[in-house]
Amino acid sequence: MLDPASLTATSKPAATPLVRNAVRMITAPQMRPGTGVVGPPEPDLVRIRDLIYQVAGIFHPENKLCLLQERCNRRMKEIQIATLREYCECLILRPAGQAELIALLNEITIGETCFFRNQPHLDALRQIVIPRILETKAKFPFRRLRLWSAGCSTGEEPYTLSMLLMEETSRRLKDWTFEILATDLNERSLVHARNAVYGSYSTRNLTAYYRLKYFIPVGEQLQVNPAARASVTFSRINLSDDARMTFMRSIDIVFCCNVLIYFDLASKRRVIQHFYNNLLPHGYLFLGHSESLYGVSDDFRLVHLPGATAYVKTERTPAGGSSI
Ligand SMILES: C[S@@+](CC[C@H](N)C(=O)[O-])C[C@H]1O[C@@H](n2cnc3c(N)ncnc32)[C@H](O)[C@@H]1O
Repeated sequence: MLDPASLTATSKPAATPLVRNAVRMITAPQMRPGTGVVGPPEPDLVRIRDLIYQVAGIFHPENKLCLLQERCNRRMKEIQIATLREYCECLILRPAGQAELIALLNEITIGETCFFRNQPHLDALRQIVIPRILETKAKFPFRRLRLWSAGCSTGEEPYTLSMLLMEETSRRLKDWTFEILATDLNERSLVHARNAVYGSYSTRNLTAYYRLKYFIPVGEQLQVNPAARASVTFSRINLSDDARMTFMRSIDIVFCCNVLIYFDLASKRRVIQHFYNNLLPHGYLFLGHSESLYGVSDDFRLVHLPGATAYVKTERTPAGGSSI
């Protein structure tokens, strides 16, 4: 996702003077002569913006176009393309452009995350949501839970879920199996996730208990141990890919935290509709703490949990929330 921290990221020097000049030209604000007013955005940048929106649902409003431009500049330096026009053509070219589009999406979707990012969410999951789901599923023939971390970035969220569920295996989840599907658009993040090695920034919220029980030191870093990795499966799924989204079925809980913030309303609605279809009838949806379905979907009921909120799948309901 567009990481606010990365707004300050600096680019590497351009490879050639030609590229350097071209990049300088497209990076500079376009002043209308003599007015001091910033001009309309580059048409090619707008075309790229529209392509990204079509493919991934990520929308760059005008005030974020400079960020998109900076990401394009990085890719242009990398592949030695001098102008935005050429780069735009390269992206649209099929099938060769597909690989470059994936590379650009990797630049755009940088995922800020860490282990145990939202403790109230996790407490509510463990103490309220899981017991409720187990109660509902008591009559099911299979004692199995399926969680989905949609937009999992480098894997801290799904591994956190795995550790929490493992903590329950001697209690509520005795005799249950569980799996965590972890998906993201960004291939680089998924490579990191599968490797499961993390530095001090990602692990800053870990208590000594979790650190000792679920991690192995690797030099200065920590690797998630095989037991906690075993239940997590990573795959590349674009939340805007309707065909792929249709295949995610029988999910008990979706975590889609801090992912939809840069989607516009139409893309959010499509993704939420998929989650509705993917979830079992008792299914829960967790969003980031600054996100809501207000004005997006009436197909979920807001549930107030201690210190957190979640959405539960329901038939169409009147607006407003309900307390537990
Ligand atoms: C800020 S991170 C959130 C990570 C984690 N869910 C958390 O809350 O800590 C957002 C993630 O969403 C992913 N993302 C953005 N657009 C996506 C899309 N269309 N399909 C799948 N993942 C997407 C990004 O690649 C990024 O890894």
